[in-house]
Amino acid sequence: MRRLLNGRQARRLRRRTALAAEQLRSDAVYNPFARTFRACPFTTYQELRERDPVHWSRLLDRWIVTRYDDLSELLHDRRFASRATLRRKRSSPLAQIVNRSPLRLDAPDHARIKSFLNRGFTPARADAARPALGALAARLAEGLPRGEPCDLMAEFVSPFVRGAMAEFLGIPEARRASFVGWSGAVAPALDPIRGGKTLRRANEAAPELIACLRQLVEERLGTPGEDLISELVHTPEAAALTPEEMAYALAFLLVGGTDTTIALITGTVQQLLMNPDQLALVRADAGLVANAVEEGARVSSPVHLSDRRALEDVTFRGRKIRRGQKVLTGFLAANTDPLRFPDPLRFDVTRGDSRHLAFGQGPHYCLGAPVARVEAAVAVGALLTRYPDIRLATDRVAYDRTVVVRLPASLPVVIAEGG
Ligand code: HEM
Repeated sequence: MRRLLNGRQARRLRRRTALAAEQLRSDAVYNPFARTFRACPFTTYQELRERDPVHWSRLLDRWIVTRYDDLSELLHDRRFASRATLRRKRSSPLAQIVNRSPLRLDAPDHARIKSFLNRGFTPARADAARPALGALAARLAEGLPRGEPCDLMAEFVSPFVRGAMAEFLGIPEARRASFVGWSGAVAPALDPIRGGKTLRRANEAAPELIACLRQLVEERLGTPGEDLISELVHTPEAAALTPEEMAYALAFLLVGGTDTTIALITGTVQQLLMNPDQLALVRADAGLVANAVEEGARVSSPVHLSDRRALEDVTFRGRKIRRGQKVLTGFLAANTDPLRFPDPLRFDVTRGDSRHLAFGQGPHYCLGAPVARVEAAVAVGALLTRYPDIRLATDRVAYDRTVVVRLPASLPVVIAEGG
């Protein structure tokens, strides 16, 4: 018998049926693949928070939690684990980097790896990096074209973040380009929506990244230098790790700290340029740059969501979550919850409340947060100081087809001629 539908049509039909059933059951749907959602996820999240805050997505076959208080509680609840989200059969080089990262580990391995890395990611260390990062930002800002549209993300934010992480870790100059290339190839493949080409490139780059980091770790164990890796590998915490584990832990920093920080800086600059009153406040008082970064983190929530799996049957806010079911942590949804943040979509540098969930909460709280905050403040500060007249060249920023890190495709701006 001839098939009535081809594979694509059948998938589309299945998706439509799942969404219709979801709408009927809970009066709300969650479809992160929809173009309208990508352009503006806020309406969907508002509906979910109001109508079905712990929502079963038929389409994704998992729950999503969208209210701030609920998510905050879930992130501390040990009945929901991270390691359990692993698919054990996946042992590709890319999967190895993710599966061996603190993000996918639970106690006791989680504490072992995290305390090794924590030593390097303190606010004091991040502050000490300001002059070097400032010099990098100023150099990149200086080279931007004037009087014509330019993609700020490609020409400033992206090279800044990639250079900043290599600088912070102390990757030797001669090997920086290779590291930047490998981490740039691996990072986009972390998203569940990725093409075969992206996946292939990531799986080719991942072993090289690990081999080179492993070599660097061995070198620094033998002959320490002045850099962060030398310091980390000689701490008491490092004694509990093999050189290979150290290489994997460091690889995740390079990979997990790139697109996230690019999205944070791009989101903050975009919000400032869209809100001239807020921009004027920050220009008048450089002390408000840090607040702008917090608001940028909250409103744009670069890590849109993450996931957990229930270790046992749990009744959560009246919903029966069965053992083994997955739960998405709606960071952006929670950060725009009006029950927690009044007028939540307003970018307000005087809000003075940075207890958002953009960097997560609980045992998996983002390890890179102090460094990402400093990187973002330095980059935004450098742009505003260098260019008194910079504006958006579009009123609609397009986003990539990613689900986890909400990354703009570009940020077109115009810098006044002679600026
Ligand atoms: C220097 C840059 C960064 C580095 C090195 C970094 C690294 C990490 C690491 C290692 C973890 C896992 C921590 C653990 O499981 O214990 C993590 C978690 C996380 N990071 Fe970052 N990160 C960076 C930037 C960012 C940025 C800019 C954001 C968003 C504003 C972000 C959001 C998150 C979130 C939400 C989690 C928790 C995910 C969960 O609970 O499942 N990170 N980060």
